[in-house]
Amino acid sequence: MKKELILVLDFNPTLAQIAARQIRAAKVYCEVLPGSTSMQSILNAAPKGIVIAGGEGEAPPLSADLFELGLPVLGVHEGASIASSDGLLVTATEDNRTDHYSMKFTPALLQTDKGKEALESFLYRTCKCLGGWTTDTYIEAEIAKLRAEIDGRVLLALSGGVDSSVTAMLLHKAVGDKLVCVFVDHGLLRKGEAEQVVSLFKKKMGMTLVHVDASERFLNKLAGVRNPERKRRIIGEEFIRVFEDEAKKLGKIEYLAQGTIYPDLLESGVGAKFVKSHHNVGGMPKDIGFKGIVEPLKLLFKDEVRVVGEALGLSHEMVWRQPFPGPGIGVRCVGVITRDKLRALRDADAIFREEILKAELSSSIWQYFAANLGVKSVGMKDGARNFGYTIALRAVHTTDAMNASVAELDYALLTRCAERIINEVEGIGRVVYDVTPKPPGTIEYE
Ligand code: XMP
Repeated sequence: MKKELILVLDFNPTLAQIAARQIRAAKVYCEVLPGSTSMQSILNAAPKGIVIAGGEGEAPPLSADLFELGLPVLGVHEGASIASSDGLLVTATEDNRTDHYSMKFTPALLQTDKGKEALESFLYRTCKCLGGWTTDTYIEAEIAKLRAEIDGRVLLALSGGVDSSVTAMLLHKAVGDKLVCVFVDHGLLRKGEAEQVVSLFKKKMGMTLVHVDASERFLNKLAGVRNPERKRRIIGEEFIRVFEDEAKKLGKIEYLAQGTIYPDLLESGVGAKFVKSHHNVGGMPKDIGFKGIVEPLKLLFKDEVRVVGEALGLSHEMVWRQPFPGPGIGVRCVGVITRDKLRALRDADAIFREEILKAELSSSIWQYFAANLGVKSVGMKDGARNFGYTIALRAVHTTDAMNASVAELDYALLTRCAERIINEVEGIGRVVYDVTPKPPGTIEYE
């Protein structure tokens, strides 16, 4: 059966992503292309309909040819310019065609049943889509595609994060032992994390996994470095060097796999505007003789990736874990990184995570962690002078990590954490709770 496709033309990246997400939630497959895509490319993609995700109130600069393709067109925009009195679907009147629609399509409206009904009406009645697109159909099709395309060994840098973990599961299912995962432990992971990754993927799932304990190498490079940007750069570059060294040891490998997901591509400029250069897209070495790059999740949104992960056998806790930055606790260890600061930070973080879990808050808080502020202060412990580090606890709510508010944690929970951290972790003098939202703060410390 030919794949059914709706094209979303991107004149506003936020709206385009929301529209695409909603179309897929309605079980119709769609892809986002830049607003500047040529008519020929649109025709080649053979869509059943086009959604124009337009500007804020202004009409996007559309080519008149778009309306001559004989395809149904739905305009979605945040302005109310062509909306009917109830703010929903209306027939455009300028050219008297019944298959061109405009819809006031704010994110809030989409949450309503009326908004979803209007979109489904366009997809199923106007475009005559058959539907049926789900993550299960995606998994089947993607596994078949990977099996057909991959004729050699595939190398994957497995971090244990959601995207690389799901990529590993999908590839393992598709190509089995041809997949080689390299897990680089940069010495900046949370307590117990390296053991968890090895135990899950190597022991339980039976994957070929090379565990590189490169912590000495990273910590030596970072010794004495205080500048936050330099620290980040060293971690990023060293990661690539270690990965390259391991790839060379493994002999001929034909493909490099990456856990790139759809928002990474859209935000890196595949859509309308360049937002930021994403580490997955630009960061990994491509010049070490690979025949191709394999990115099996590159057309999936984050929540779809999680559903795929669960369907492939990853636990609910694993796929819904809080985000963890690539440079690890290196961005939570303020100033010069030392083994002693990292140890205190790791132990304090483990206690905070344990308490959040016990309080059943782990799924309602976006990110919660401890940071070592690197400042020592005087206090008392067991009747003697204590001169220890200051640990900041941070817990934030956000939907997109661009703005974040501070989680209003229960005072009893905070004091319990402070008491446990001071008593159970050597070398900590004070515990503070960070009440800075983003902006002006950032979520991480460096
Ligand atoms: P900030 O600190 O910028 O963090 O408010 C926003 C979100 O991004 C995560 N973060 C990173 N993730 N590599 C990553 O993969 C990084 O270098 C990085 N820096 C920040 C951070 O944990 C938060 O979720």
